[in-house]
Amino acid sequence: MQSDAIESAYALLERSVMHYRGEPVGTVAAVASGDLAAENYHDCFVRDFIPSALVFLADGKPDIVRNFLRTVLQLRSQHQRIHGHQLEPAVLPASFRVQRHHHGKKGDGQRHEQIRADFGDHAIGRVAPVDAMMWWVVLLGIYCRHTGDRALAAEQDVQRALRGVLELSLREGFEVFPTLLVPDGAFMIDRRMGVYGHPLEIQCLFYGMLVSAVELLRDTPDVHELIELADKRASMLRNYLQLFYWLDHERLNEIHRYRTEEFGSGSINMLNIYPESIPEWVIDWLPQRGGYLVGNLGPGRMDFRFFALGNLLAILFDITSPQEAQTLMRLYQERWDDLVGNMPAKLVFPAVVAKEWQFMTGSDPKNVAWSYHNGGNWPVLLWPLVAAAMKTGRGDLAQLALDVADHALPQDGWPEYYDGRRGNLIGRRAHLNQVWSATGYILGHKLAEDETLLDLFRIEEGRREPGAGLAAD
Ligand code: GLC
Repeated sequence: MQSDAIESAYALLERSVMHYRGEPVGTVAAVASGDLAAENYHDCFVRDFIPSALVFLADGKPDIVRNFLRTVLQLRSQHQRIHGHQLEPAVLPASFRVQRHHHGKKGDGQRHEQIRADFGDHAIGRVAPVDAMMWWVVLLGIYCRHTGDRALAAEQDVQRALRGVLELSLREGFEVFPTLLVPDGAFMIDRRMGVYGHPLEIQCLFYGMLVSAVELLRDTPDVHELIELADKRASMLRNYLQLFYWLDHERLNEIHRYRTEEFGSGSINMLNIYPESIPEWVIDWLPQRGGYLVGNLGPGRMDFRFFALGNLLAILFDITSPQEAQTLMRLYQERWDDLVGNMPAKLVFPAVVAKEWQFMTGSDPKNVAWSYHNGGNWPVLLWPLVAAAMKTGRGDLAQLALDVADHALPQDGWPEYYDGRRGNLIGRRAHLNQVWSATGYILGHKLAEDETLLDLFRIEEGRREPGAGLAAD
């Protein structure tokens, strides 16, 4: 029964809460279940905590969210300096854990607690999490808007951190695009998967971060210019995503007949995408009346794969126009088996196979075709899918997705991901008791029942009056 399932999800959430000095500060990624737990699944990951945070906020329990936001910020002092190289202070950790040491004799000894952060210096592949700082700002905005607590955003170190994130992400590099250039594996897909460059998920989070930061920063003379810059970049980024990432039948036709090697101003195929690079699958797969934002875009490179989280966030953050959002949900409807199948939802479609898998992943056995990041189905995606469906008036699709999840997810013990083209096998190396699978499920149900929760994501572009903003004076 569904209420039992929700109860079991909540029981897992409760067991996952991490304490520091007696206060709840986060939730672990997975609660041990005697299976093959990877070492860092006892950590609280910034991205994994997002659905936990949203559930806590919806339930009127903001304290843990506030503690989390503060804790993550304090951890920045743990950056390690490497000779000749220093991590940007604005980079936030991927995850953190509380370590407990016992001193003195057993029984009467004292317990010492310490938080240890991972900035990608421990994680597999040593990836720096670009998404953590984006999510942190977006969550801070959600927290402030939802609770009305403006004091947190006004704190000096919070304002300083916001400025730091903006300074880092708006810094001029070697590029002329409004998108942000990042290395492979800098977000939820935290291994080599050919997602370097300008992956959609980071661009959407970048946009959400910019708009939230503009809202949260106090407009004082010393930051005024930075705020203006962020504001402009957000609107350019949104236009660029709509113009160049959007793919529907009409666009595909255009690209198919693109001229190439156009020089100078007035060119249409600005990024010099060769029509020959259109993969065969996309031509048959893209329905007449469907569309989506492509996975990545750069000079001479369009990655046509469909990445779910970026697309769903684009709807939630209003990056897509209302009409595009409808078209995107229609794609879900018409390609339901591929994008939802037996467990909502597919992380990326399609999987890469054979030689392409070798080159793209470095022969990663965890990312074989239709598994894990390479076309696995991730229950955590239930919440953004339901949210996007509700926002676009497609409550029917939201309900369908919830029904699919109801049939297997709680019974299977909240696996991290599912394998197979249709996602009908529990992931070969999936953890059970994966917390964001449970919180994604709770949140999905909540969003379907109470549409006002969609207001959590209502971030609006456009500079407000000088002096105004979410931060209190
Ligand atoms: C894996 C996932 C990552 C997630 C972490 C904890 O590393 O790739 O997205 O944050 O597990 O669940």
